[in-house]
Amino acid sequence: MQMDGRDDMADIAVVGVVGAGFMGSGIAESAARADKHVLVYEPERAPLERAREALRRSLERAAARGKVDDPDVIVDRVAYTSELDDLRAADAVIEAVIEDPKVKGKLFQRLDRVLPDAVFLASNTSSIPIAEIAAWTARPERVLGLHFFSPVPVMSLVEVVRAIDTAEDVLDAACVFAGEIGKHTVLTKDRSGFIVNMLLVPYLMSAIRMYEDGFASREDIDEGMKRGCGHPMGPLTLADFIGLDVMYAIGQSLYEEFKRPDFAPPPLLKRMVVSGHFGRKSGRGFYQYAEAPAAA
Ligand code: CAA
Repeated sequence: MQMDGRDDMADIAVVGVVGAGFMGSGIAESAARADKHVLVYEPERAPLERAREALRRSLERAAARGKVDDPDVIVDRVAYTSELDDLRAADAVIEAVIEDPKVKGKLFQRLDRVLPDAVFLASNTSSIPIAEIAAWTARPERVLGLHFFSPVPVMSLVEVVRAIDTAEDVLDAACVFAGEIGKHTVLTKDRSGFIVNMLLVPYLMSAIRMYEDGFASREDIDEGMKRGCGHPMGPLTLADFIGLDVMYAIGQSLYEEFKRPDFAPPPLLKRMVVSGHFGRKSGRGFYQYAEAPAAA
């Protein structure tokens, strides 16, 4: 795969993104908008095609608002592959697949072999210990967490997670890269939830419990936090937006780590997840959605 400009650009000129879902697509878009070449890997062709279409639509919307000059140029910076070996062309990799330690571990084991010289192998996990993922590799010193926020092209934060073996120069390179793609970095220890979810998850779980207990309607809970505290979305809308399956997995991880009841997913959340009500991406969560977004 030809990746023009690899030698004469910054250290990380070509970034590999593993996973073509909502987060992976957003990371790819942010990097491509900042002149990086991006290789998106996903084993199935169909999600890659959906991600390609979602990127084009997102860039056309951004162009219509005057935020992007030429969507075609940015689209051309992103290549899609269903062959993991193609990631060999990348200088560094960011993984954004499902929150399953075994899936991520096995993936990092393969990435470690395919990319012996990569500057870093990062996980976008929101709650799985980076040390556990790094343990699957022969070079844990170049594994770290880069935790992006949704929607990635809009939210300017990246949590940089230092695991027990992460090398200082690897952290520095990752921070420089995040800065180059327009993100502000905060450094955090490798503890489930890092900074933001450690604070956000008890709040969202409390809102779900409040709704479950019949304190107030879903609309009034959301309006309360929007109008009373100036939040852009109420907690139940935000939970639907993040994905109830993701919320459940994060809550479980945090509870597993700290054994504090405020992190534990309420029974209603579990019932919704086992019933396939994942929020916006499945068309139904606390609210009903007309259609699921393409790259969810
Ligand atoms: N992709 C790209 N751009 C998007 C977008 C998307 N999916 N959704 C919205 N935007 C852009 C719009 O194009 C618009 O851009 P400009 O201002 O440059 O024109 C901007 O965002 C605002 O969009 P809208 O006016 O259409 O809508 P809004 O004002 O309601 O904002 C929102 C939408 C940015 C999503 C806002 O509601 C918000 O900030 N919500 C909270 C999001 C949040 O809390 N995210 C963190 C979740 S936690 C997480 O991700 C971590 C985890 O581990 C769970």
